[in-house]
Amino acid sequence: MFDTMTMTKVLGAFCGTLLVFMLGGWAAETIYHVGGDHGYGDGPKQAYVIEVADEDGAAEEVVEEEGPDFTEVFASADAGAGESQWRACRACHALEPGQNMTGPSLYGVVGRDVGSVDGFNYSGSLSAVADVWTPENLNAFLENPRGYAPGTSMSYNGMRNIEDRADLIAYLDSLDN
Ligand code: HEC
Repeated sequence: MFDTMTMTKVLGAFCGTLLVFMLGGWAAETIYHVGGDHGYGDGPKQAYVIEVADEDGAAEEVVEEEGPDFTEVFASADAGAGESQWRACRACHALEPGQNMTGPSLYGVVGRDVGSVDGFNYSGSLSAVADVWTPENLNAFLENPRGYAPGTSMSYNGMRNIEDRADLIAYLDSLDN
């Protein structure tokens, strides 16, 4: 029953499978390297480090864990809930047109040109990085104002939660027509 040919085939199939497993394991280890030994510290968002080889050796790239997509979160944002987030801003901003405080009036800010309120003395750092306050730009700015626009005179540390930001932007957007 077990002639030499059958034995050879069985052995061949076995070795082939083993080789695929070994190669797969090697490839996986080379591509994915669980962070820790790369000196990046352990920032809260770092998921893993992908090593990408280029012409002169291995370059490393830190890949951030994919968070929820802002466009999706914004699509189901709650302007009513955003009104309570406004507490974080009202010490410096008014919602009435033309009323500037420490910060410029935010009436109609969603869709407004960056740095365009008359009579407000902007730092210039905002218009250096954005043209129009789209919801996406506001989202990025409000998450980390000084990271987004280095040198900005807005001394606010940022709103970490993406849903809070989406709700707040929806609230601001609901105030003008
Ligand atoms: C401590 C005061 C302060 C707080 C708190 C603050 N801001 Fe500001 N904001 C400023 C100042 C000052 C500027 C002008 C920045 C510049 O010119 O670099 C500004 C600018 C802005 C701009 C740009 C407006 C334009 O006309 O281009 C937006 C949008 C904005 N703030 C939104 C907010 C929101 C939303 C909050 C609350 C989450 C907030 N800010 C909290 C002081 C503040």
